[in-house]
Amino acid sequence: MAIAYDSRLGIGAAPNEWEQEILNQFSGQKVQIWPDISNPEDVEYLILWNTIHDPWVDYPNLKAMLSLSAGVEQLLRDPNIPTDVPLIRMIDISLSVGMAEYVMGAVMRIHLGHHFYSEQKAKHEWGFGQLDLKLAKDRTIGIMGAGELGQASGEMLASAGFRIQYWSRSRKEFDYATSYAGDGELKTFLASTDILVVLVPLTADTTDMINVDFLKMLPKGASVINVARGRIIKDEDLLACLDDGHIEQVILDVFRKEPLPAEHAFWVHPRVFMTPHISSITRAETAVPTIRSHIKAFENGHVPKGLVDRTRGY
Ligand code: GLV
Repeated sequence: MAIAYDSRLGIGAAPNEWEQEILNQFSGQKVQIWPDISNPEDVEYLILWNTIHDPWVDYPNLKAMLSLSAGVEQLLRDPNIPTDVPLIRMIDISLSVGMAEYVMGAVMRIHLGHHFYSEQKAKHEWGFGQLDLKLAKDRTIGIMGAGELGQASGEMLASAGFRIQYWSRSRKEFDYATSYAGDGELKTFLASTDILVVLVPLTADTTDMINVDFLKMLPKGASVINVARGRIIKDEDLLACLDDGHIEQVILDVFRKEPLPAEHAFWVHPRVFMTPHISSITRAETAVPTIRSHIKAFENGHVPKGLVDRTRGY
């Protein structure tokens, strides 16, 4: 059995020790690493990132493609990628824990009003003293997306005392959270959300989903955290809602164009806190063993968790 690793990195992936970790974990197997794919006909499993793979090598005997990224929208847009070979997206414990920790930090920043104090500090102002801050039990976090990352984040926030509600395509059961499902329940979900956390995949349905009409369904003073994909939000609508005071604060880790262009208004907006697509990173120490177990599953006739449904888009 031969494996190929297409090392062309996608968004969010750190330049790294991946090749070494893959060679270590698959020692004893034939591993070909891009661009040295000398025998594509031997390759049964291809490890790759969520990026456009151009030029593409044809692997005539491929059994599966294993993504190191949780999001696979670029792979689904890549005209080279075979559509008759199973594609598995990355579900990994350190990716989930890392995301939960980032979301917890982002929620806390908003919850504690740190953006106000940053604005004051920038103006050298002691300021307006104590804000009318709520306790976690009185703050509702609305998480869009109840997949692995959404659930890990919601569980951590619930353990800190926040009220949690999810919105997803289909209803789910949680003992610590309310589940809203489908277009029909979006309005109710948004109307009772204080801090919105965006953790849905980018699909045809979610592209530009967060526009002015959507944002106005949130209560005045709500805040938004986007850790999914930039193209889910219409930037100009978000900026308009920040400027008219409807949205209080925004934390963004993902952008329509990355790196964010120098002239973009987000760079200088006092109520926008940003990080450069690092909210959660795939870590080789856990992700490569996950890939190994995926390959083992395929070899034993099973389909591992994370099979991408191409019609659904994730
Ligand atoms: C990062 O954005 C990922 O999709 O894993």
